Amino acid sequence: MPDPTWKYLAVATEAVLAAGAIQKARYGQRIEIHQKGEIDLVTEVDRACEATILDILRSRFPGHDIVTEETALPKIGSPYVWFVDPLDGTTNFAHGYPFFCASVALTLNGEVVAGAVYDPLKEELFTAEKGGGAHMNGARLGVSSSRDLLRSLLVTGFPYDLRDDLDRTLRLFNRFMGHARAIRRDGAAALDLCYLAAGRVDGFWEERLQLWDILAGILMVEEAGGRVSRFDGTPVGLRADEVLATNVLLHQPMLDVLRQDRDASS
Ligand code: IPD
Ligand code: CA
Ligand code: CA
Repeated sequence: MPDPTWKYLAVATEAVLAAGAIQKARYGQRIEIHQKGEIDLVTEVDRACEATILDILRSRFPGHDIVTEETALPKIGSPYVWFVDPLDGTTNFAHGYPFFCASVALTLNGEVVAGAVYDPLKEELFTAEKGGGAHMNGARLGVSSSRDLLRSLLVTGFPYDLRDDLDRTLRLFNRFMGHARAIRRDGAAALDLCYLAAGRVDGFWEERLQLWDILAGILMVEEAGGRVSRFDGTPVGLRADEVLATNVLLHQPMLDVLRQDRDASS
C-alpha cells in the first residue's frame, strides 16, 4: 500500500523548512560563491541546503529516486521521483536581494502529487497536494480573477544562456510589455509560480527552465485553480523548456501573444 499523499507532503515540507532555516541563518553573511557558467552561480548555501534535503528524503524514502540541481545522482528506477531545488534564486541570495526559496516536488509515475516551497524571510510556506488544493501557511490559495491583459501583472525570468539569443528572449518580453500593465522579473521561478497561485500576479511565462524549478510551483498553480501549458497550449508534462501559467482567464490572451510572436518570427 503506498503512503497517503499527505505523508509525502509532510516530508517535503520538513525538507524545505530545514533548507529555509539554513538560508535565513546565512543570509547577509559572507559566503563562498562559485561560477557554474558566465553568470550562473552556486554558493556553499545551495550545497548545504541540498545536503540537508537529501538527508531528510533518503532517511524517509530510501527506495525513491531524487533529481537535484547541484548533484547528479544514479537512478534507482522507482516510480517515485523527487525534484529538488535547494535554493531557487541563488543570484538574489548571493547579492542579498530578499527573494529566494527552497522547492521540493514529488512525482509518481510522471505525475506531480505533492509540492512544497518555502520563503524563509517572509516565513511563507506554500504547499500543494494533488486533488487537495494549494495552501500558504495553512490558508487556501486561489488565483486572481483578472481577465484583462492590459490590467494584469505578469512575471517572467531569463535563462542563464540568454546572451546566446538575447534578441529572442527580449522580443517576447517586449511583446508582453505592450499588452500588460507591468512585468516583474524577480529571480526565483518556484516562488513566481507560488505568487501566481496566491493571486499576487496574473500570469507567468519562461523558457529553458529545469524541472526542479517548476514542478512544485506548477502543482501550486493548478491546485489554486490556474492553468499551465507550453507556449502552444499543449500540456507541459515532464518538460520545462516552455512554461505558460495563468489564472485561466488570461491563458488564451497570453497564448495569442505567443502565437503572434511565432507568426512574426517565422
Ligand atoms: C533560476 C531562477 C530564475 C530563473 C532561472 C533559474 P536558480 O534558478 O529560478 O528565476 O529565471 O532560469 O535557473 O539558479 O536560482 O536555482
Ligand atoms: Ca532554480
Ligand atoms: Ca537552485
